[in-house]
Amino acid sequence: MENVGKLFGVGVGPGDPELITVKAVRVIKEADIIFTAASTKNTYSLAVEIASPYISPSTPIEKMSFPMTKNVKEVETAWVQNAKQIAKSLNQGKKAVFLTLGDPTTYSTFGYILKKMDCIMPEADIETIPGITSFHAASARLNRILVEGEESLLVTSGAFGGDRIRNVDGVENVAIVKAYKNIKDINKALKEAGLDKKCVAVSKCGRKNEQIIENIETLEKRAPDYWTLILASK
Ligand SMILES: C[S@@+](CC[C@H](N)C(=O)[O-])C[C@H]1O[C@@H](n2cnc3c(N)ncnc32)[C@H](O)[C@@H]1O
Repeated sequence: MENVGKLFGVGVGPGDPELITVKAVRVIKEADIIFTAASTKNTYSLAVEIASPYISPSTPIEKMSFPMTKNVKEVETAWVQNAKQIAKSLNQGKKAVFLTLGDPTTYSTFGYILKKMDCIMPEADIETIPGITSFHAASARLNRILVEGEESLLVTSGAFGGDRIRNVDGVENVAIVKAYKNIKDINKALKEAGLDKKCVAVSKCGRKNEQIIENIETLEKRAPDYWTLILASK
């Protein structure tokens, strides 16, 4: 095929602008167009803010709406539209960069784009550039080993509470992202699984207003920030 561009899914890391790979910086600088997901409520994109020192002022930035709803049809329609927009740029021969926070393969909007591109433009040339995840940044910030020796690590979402922690045996360490709601149930599950002795929450790791919360029970008394994760070990 002639004049077909390439899509890069680029992880910009957790917030500290120095925690971005050299490869990501090069690809961002060379981009013909930048895409990123933005809430339907506003057009702010933290991923764009983190990458902004490397984005040329002449590079267009398209913020794609990502409806935060349980209405599957609405979400599907939005992502098909978004993927079509990206496919259009690739058909114009452009280097398109889709920016994501942390790592693009970890609880990321880039996952939806990959799936939809596979249906809409299966021949598309796509490269994923990894990023530093929030939980790696948090363990580094705390000088805390995430997992070692023969141990296991469970990476899970806390969005629906602590059941994922309750139902797993033989895991010594957990990293819980989206620990901003159902914190009471998460705490309960950590206790039940014997993971409550060595646990810590980190909010906005590497960013302004970063918080390290050693006693995670205190999180129950205030609404934790969306950008909160928990690291816990036996
Ligand atoms: C949709 S997930 C995105 C994960 C991201 N792709 C990654 O690689 O870490 C969003 C969750 O990641 C966690 N998160 C992302 N950035 C964070 C930060 N700077 N500090 C603490 N938690 C963060 C929070 O738990 C948040 O609810």
